[in-house]
Amino acid sequence: MVKNNLPRIGVIGAGRLGTALAKQSLSVGYEVRISNSRGPESLELLLSVLLPGAIAATIDETISKSDIVILAFPLRYYKSLTPQLFIGKIVIDAMNYWAPVEGDIAEFADATITSSEMVQQYLHDAHVIKTLNHIAYNEIEEHALPLQSKGYRAIGIAGDDRDAKLTAMAYVEALGFDGVDLGVLKNGALLQPDTRLFNARMSADSMKSQTAVRI
Ligand SMILES: NC(=O)c1ccc[n+]([C@@H]2O[C@H](COP(=O)([O-])OP(=O)(O)OC[C@H]3O[C@@H](n4cnc5c(N)ncnc54)[C@H](OP(=O)(O)O)[C@@H]3O)[C@@H](O)[C@H]2O)c1
Repeated sequence: MVKNNLPRIGVIGAGRLGTALAKQSLSVGYEVRISNSRGPESLELLLSVLLPGAIAATIDETISKSDIVILAFPLRYYKSLTPQLFIGKIVIDAMNYWAPVEGDIAEFADATITSSEMVQQYLHDAHVIKTLNHIAYNEIEEHALPLQSKGYRAIGIAGDDRDAKLTAMAYVEALGFDGVDLGVLKNGALLQPDTRLFNARMSADSMKSQTAVRI
């Protein structure tokens, strides 16, 4: 934890979603590290133009120096991460398998397991939370609102570890959204592409009534 007592945020993936989440995190006071596969030097322009105050880092530094690590890169590369670095880390899996965009990938076509459960199996010593994957990057800053404002947009949160989920919930709320606990990680299926919740702007009450999961 840093001085202001907020968890340190590490974003892996510096594209549309990673940049939007890093920007919003900075704006509400978090310390933010961000990385991509090409190394910190490649992020200089991005930082100077869009993310002043963020720290460009290697992927491994992003993991080791962050309390919450956000995965915001193409899902098919998740096994490029080093699982040993993730012991005890809270991991926000914001990635999606979306065949029209990613192409058909046999590994993710198995309907008996969600992509986040695959990530959890691979990062076995982390606490993986599925969230922030079902909002478009350009709506993060635009739709963020102060706590319990009118029109407060719901963001679903699924995970197996209660404490990690509470930390993720506090983070989502600090970003400006109404976190809705959807229960265990497997329920992250409710947030995947081609579901009612994916890309839907709705209130927490509406999300709860549409999912009716047992927490
Ligand atoms: N765009 C959205 O609105 C949105 C919303 C919700 C969820 N998502 C999900 O978020 C993920 C990223 O989407 P995006 O739209 O942000 O993609 P994007 O704009 O193409 O950005 C992908 C980023 O990941 C980096 N990257 C690629 N391979 C990497 C690796 N092996 N390790 C670390 N970084 C790597 C890329 O940089 P380098 O190639 O230089 O490494 C780039 O910075 C996807 O799973 C997507 O489904 C996207």
